Amino acid sequence: MNTEKLEISSESIQHAGDILRKGGLVAFPTETVYGLGADALNGEAVKAVYAAKGRPSDNPMIVHIAETEQLADLIAELPAHAGPLIRAFWPGPITFVFRKTDQVPETTTGGLDTVAIRMPSNETARRLILAAGVPVAAPSANLSGKPSPTTAADVLEDMDGRIDAVLLGEDCAVGIESTVLDLTGEVPMILRPGFITKEMLETVLGSEVRYDPSLFRQPDGEDFKPRSPGMKYKHYTPNAEVRLIAGEPEAVHARIEALRTEAEEAGRTVAVLDYRDPREAAKDFFARLREIDREGVDLVLVRALKEEELGLSVMNRMLKSAGYNIEQVQA
Ligand code: TXA
Ligand code: MG
Repeated sequence: MNTEKLEISSESIQHAGDILRKGGLVAFPTETVYGLGADALNGEAVKAVYAAKGRPSDNPMIVHIAETEQLADLIAELPAHAGPLIRAFWPGPITFVFRKTDQVPETTTGGLDTVAIRMPSNETARRLILAAGVPVAAPSANLSGKPSPTTAADVLEDMDGRIDAVLLGEDCAVGIESTVLDLTGEVPMILRPGFITKEMLETVLGSEVRYDPSLFRQPDGEDFKPRSPGMKYKHYTPNAEVRLIAGEPEAVHARIEALRTEAEEAGRTVAVLDYRDPREAAKDFFARLREIDREGVDLVLVRALKEEELGLSVMNRMLKSAGYNIEQVQA
């Protein structure tokens, strides 16, 4: 298949919207990561997304909308907490899980009776959804198991020849995927941590928000059943070995340098990721993992972030990419 590479313009966005409405697949920028879009109400189009990504079909997709009016057809009820959260955080990098209506095909929700919905703030994404005139199901636009793409070049690396078109937008400002918040229970539950943190949610609600307990467990064994099916798959794995080092700043620095020297003496190539700021880490991490693979690096040494607020969200991705290989150094 020849993948159209579309520079951003009113015409190209209109054209991409036409492709989506006719059942085709279009990758597009959002503020979090690039998405691979299809008409969310067209089960056949959604199946083609699973095929293009090589994604297990029980892993449900996020449905993207551009206006709150679009919710009415998709969700069975608006939970009490939803109003204030939508007003505070949409459009933006957070996805809410609701009970679904019959209009949403089970292909889109991986057989679940709930649907995950997000209104992105990225201007190109919003214009595309409006041009399509349908809600747009979109997982991250990577091959299953690869880091989410945060640049148009990263999308093409995985998807060129597999989808109808790519909108060549800007690099993603946030760089990690949206927070996923389940609103179907009494207490809102974070199924995937992201840029919008537990603290930010609790400030708006004035009440408690919980983490899905399986977020803090290594995915292993039959009894690992996270409420967000996507959390159980192997994710974000580069070809290189990734090791996380946690502890006091100076001790971590010393340990990283010692490991680097040891590996280089053994003839291995080493990359060090030493982020001081969680925002910078979020924006850079996935893109760097892809670069590291292109460069054929053997070992990646990563300074662990403090697992609080945005740092916790980035560490969720870092731990997965490291296969939970983390070392605590003493000062
Ligand atoms: O930032 C994002 O969310 C990006 C951009 C493109 O919007 N999309 C994205 O989609 O990350 P994806 O498919 O890579 O991840 C969706 C996550 C998965 O972990 C999936 O299991 C979960 O959301 N999810 C989707 N529908 C769900 C549902 N009904 N209940 C629980 N989890 C759900
Ligand atoms: Mg993904």
